[in-house]
Amino acid sequence: MTVSAPEIHPPSTIQQSSGNGLPTPLREIEPGLLLKFECDNPGGSHKVRAARFIVRNAIACGDIVPGRTTVIEKTGGNFGFGLAIACQAHGVPVDLAVGLGFSGVKRRCLELFGARLIGLDMLERGATPREVIEWHLAHQQECERSYFYTDQFHNSGSVAAHELETGPEIVAQLKAWPRIQKLTFVACAGTGASLVGITRALKSAGYALNVVLVEPQGCDSRHGVFVDHKLEGMSVGVAPPFLGWRLIDEVRTVSYEQVLDARKSFARIHGLLPGNTAAACLSVARELAHDAGDTHKVLSILYDHGLWYVR
Ligand SMILES: Cc1ncc(COP(=O)(O)O)c(C=O)c1O
Repeated sequence: MTVSAPEIHPPSTIQQSSGNGLPTPLREIEPGLLLKFECDNPGGSHKVRAARFIVRNAIACGDIVPGRTTVIEKTGGNFGFGLAIACQAHGVPVDLAVGLGFSGVKRRCLELFGARLIGLDMLERGATPREVIEWHLAHQQECERSYFYTDQFHNSGSVAAHELETGPEIVAQLKAWPRIQKLTFVACAGTGASLVGITRALKSAGYALNVVLVEPQGCDSRHGVFVDHKLEGMSVGVAPPFLGWRLIDEVRTVSYEQVLDARKSFARIHGLLPGNTAAACLSVARELAHDAGDTHKVLSILYDHGLWYVR
């Protein structure tokens, strides 16, 4: 499978939209453990950064023409919320094929954010979200739409978003800890875009970096081994398309019990419920933070909030 490499316009050349938001906080939430609060982004996760970058870039390239183009994607997850927000800012409609596995609350919320959910009848007859997308792309005239497929698993604009925006934002915030020389970056991968983009930015800022990839117990993305798990967004059943394995120094797996423990203790100590992928990374990051000090800190990402995932 080939990964398209769109022409990337640096952020400064792209018109900034009202959906850009403020830098998310970086806090030393526990001794030695720095957390980037990506859950504070519009739409509640880091994925809005990829969505905004891809949409802005496509507008700059003329691939999306506001007033003419509709964005299409298959996602009921955080990228869907990010896209709804990014498109709304430019007056571009967005059609999402959302698998029936996603909760009714999520579907309703996506609509509240401005997305149109497509292909429900096809999904109910057993089609996959991919098949819904393929059908709509093949029947644009019939649907009275001119589509741009953001295709998050093949659009490297999401890596650029994190390399040019999230990563430099973290680097600027790290100045508050001037003694740090070494960072252990604990992250997970769905597409791999955030891990790769942030890693590249930290490396080019000159930090000695140890990158730890977190996976659910039973998954081994490097070797294409996946099991069903409840950590929506990470180790999603395909090898993360943007992940260069040379960037990874260590892989650690976590059980669902460890994730639930980390989620509960974080909620009780800090009054905030982390999402499942954030809690998985937290459980590893906390262990590694025992060895941290003034010159070496552990950095992880609070990808999103946990309310979605409470059952
Ligand atoms: C909650 C959550 N965590 C982690 C990830 C992984 O992010 P990336 O696609 O940048 O690897 C995602 C991706 O959708 C996500 O929704």
